[in-house]
Amino acid sequence: MSTTSSKILVTGASGNLGGLVLHHLTETYHYPKDQIIAASRNPESLSQWADLGIETRKADFSDPESLESAFKGVDRVLLISTDSPVNDVRTVLHHNAVEALKSAGVPYIIYTSMPEPETSPVSFSNVHLTTENEVKASGAYWTILRNAWYFENLLFTLPGALASGSLYSAAGEGKISYISRSDLARAAAAALLSTNIENKTLTITGEEALSVGTVASQVSSLVGKPISVVHVPAEAIVEGALAHGLPPVVAEMFASFDRATQSGHLGGVTDEYEQLTWVKPQSFESWLNDNGSLFSESA
Ligand SMILES: NC(=O)c1ccc[n+]([C@@H]2O[C@H](COP(=O)([O-])OP(=O)(O)OC[C@H]3O[C@@H](n4cnc5c(N)ncnc54)[C@H](OP(=O)(O)O)[C@@H]3O)[C@@H](O)[C@H]2O)c1
Repeated sequence: MSTTSSKILVTGASGNLGGLVLHHLTETYHYPKDQIIAASRNPESLSQWADLGIETRKADFSDPESLESAFKGVDRVLLISTDSPVNDVRTVLHHNAVEALKSAGVPYIIYTSMPEPETSPVSFSNVHLTTENEVKASGAYWTILRNAWYFENLLFTLPGALASGSLYSAAGEGKISYISRSDLARAAAAALLSTNIENKTLTITGEEALSVGTVASQVSSLVGKPISVVHVPAEAIVEGALAHGLPPVVAEMFASFDRATQSGHLGGVTDEYEQLTWVKPQSFESWLNDNGSLFSESA
């Protein structure tokens, strides 16, 4: 990795990914703390970083006025995608952020996207595609990080499956090229410090893609409880989620993940993580060894 010395800002710094990016900037890459700015809707939640000498700023994409000062004097920004389940809301939040980055004249924008947003059936793929295009048209240098699915997403579904013994899936034999959230944060930190990835789109994945059957059998062996995968149509995933009280938009989102998995849109494997960081991503087996207690506790 070739590096630069610039003032860099991480949005969404109080989120899980944002915090891990700051961790990798400071602990893995030893980037000078006085060159880092942590930005959040709630800067008071960033005191652990302020205590280390990192500047904190308020940046709320729903409040364009707060963004004017947030992005001033910054060379590189990691724009972490937001988490609103409502696509139109999320698209506007990202639009506000890109407009403010343009007004502030930030020369380099890095955006966290998702795999294959042009064609993916994932319900929010259009949010990422729209933001990618706005970032590319901003006039700044850019890098798009198309982040694969986190191992950590399995914590939403596997505990329930361990408790009931059944995992309902519409993904068929489709696979997901999972990677740990921490590795994605390390890739984002590396991207912030790199000088040779301008105007590139990188898809950051684990080293292998896993089917729901493989995931279930590995977690089942670890915890010592059986999980049988029950293959159902995507409509049954929606119905099941609604029956558990999830809002329709979230039920549709979960079903769309299975559709995208089944059709191969989440299974592509690249070596771009290693090219960016010079290390290999953590395997599922190793991640399970480190995090298996999270599943055992729920069994
Ligand atoms: N690849 C995957 O598997 C996967 C899984 C889950 C999510 N994601 C995406 O990756 C992002 C980061 O993941 P995560 O694990 O860190 O999620 P998280 O812990 O739920 O964090 C949500 C993030 O959204 C930010 N945010 C929400 N509303 C905002 C606003 N109005 N203005 C500015 N920032 C706002 C939060 O920033 P502050 O709270 O600091 O303001 C925080 O960084 C998510 O927001 C989502 O877009 C990807």
